Amino acid sequence: MGITDRKRDHIRIVLENASVQRGSNWLEYVHIIPRAVPDINVDEIDVKATFLGKEFSAPILIEGMTGGTDEAARINATLAEAAGRARVPMGVGSQRAGIARPELRYTFRAAREAGPDVFLIANIGAAQLAQHGVQLAWEAIKMIDANAIAIHVNTLQEIIQPEGDRRFKGFLAQTRRLCEEIGVPVIIKEVGCGISFEDAVILRELGVSAVDVAGRGGTSWVEIERMRAVEAGRIDRAQLAEVFQDWGIPTAASVLEVAQVNGLEIVGSGGIRNGLEIAKLLLLGANMGGMAMPFLKAAVQGVEEVENLIERLKEELKATLALCGASNIAEFKKRASYVLTGPLKEWRDQRIAGRAAKR
Ligand SMILES: Cc1cc2nc3c(=O)[nH]c(=O)nc-3n(C[C@H](O)[C@H](O)[C@H](O)COP(=O)(O)O)c2cc1C
Repeated sequence: MGITDRKRDHIRIVLENASVQRGSNWLEYVHIIPRAVPDINVDEIDVKATFLGKEFSAPILIEGMTGGTDEAARINATLAEAAGRARVPMGVGSQRAGIARPELRYTFRAAREAGPDVFLIANIGAAQLAQHGVQLAWEAIKMIDANAIAIHVNTLQEIIQPEGDRRFKGFLAQTRRLCEEIGVPVIIKEVGCGISFEDAVILRELGVSAVDVAGRGGTSWVEIERMRAVEAGRIDRAQLAEVFQDWGIPTAASVLEVAQVNGLEIVGSGGIRNGLEIAKLLLLGANMGGMAMPFLKAAVQGVEEVENLIERLKEELKATLALCGASNIAEFKKRASYVLTGPLKEWRDQRIAGRAAKR
């Protein structure tokens, strides 16, 4: 099966199956303490946020999803037009197809054409970077005049995919070179399993600017690849996927982990579905909240639907700030406190509370 068929499968499976969102991202174990005594004007609340040195209208990121087919070109264009109007950043999906087949570049380029001023994030996989190095990253950036590049680490997905590429050796050395040479911020992102404290320390030392956790509790690539394996009659791969259904660090725990490392910006993502969840991520230490699947669903409906979604998220975020008596995000982070309960508290106690200080 070619890359474009795979991309088509991914979009179809995500749009048709609610079950590809697996489990919980553990944000329900974060309880923000309400502040009942107000001294602000709710209509003056401002949710502007800064990420990678740029200011955006809100701490909302449209996560990288697609490219490689006509449908993907339409989705990228729709997302970029809305992102431009709403002044939020966005990523495109893995550009491997566009690099291998120049006739498919327009499917990624569509984002830049529809959003000439959008902060666009290029995307390639860790295996591609490991094997082909900085030149490949450069081609991805050039293809869409990107403002930053995300390298996705997706070991579990590649292991389950029958056609998966599992040659990651050299990834760390190439990431270091990339950070030294490329001239735009480098983001390392997971795709559903989260990123740990230990890995964040390594990434910071390599010179990475930001980490996008894409934790457990959102779109599950294990489940998507399990469905594809069943459709393809690959029962061995489907069984492998089943064993690893719940692998990974839930989003809330992953943000807590990565926030222990100084000098890395953080995108909290993985199952984020409303502005209250984005507010919780900010308190745990994230700079932005990222969403993929809800933006895909909105994009197939059109630009207006994507803009409405962004507007709804902003309203929910503003409501949360209001309920904490904060008129902007800096104030919110300073004023608001929270309690962790259940498994997230246990996680924090075992993994974070014992660690002496931020590294
Ligand atoms: C249809 C679809 C395609 C995706 N393709 C990519 C990709 O090519 N590269 C990548 O880094 N992440 C990809 N992702 C992962 C998302 O960027 C995101 O990290 C993850 O889906 C978690 O967000 P969610 O729970 O809001 O969907 C894709 C997600 C979806 C839903």
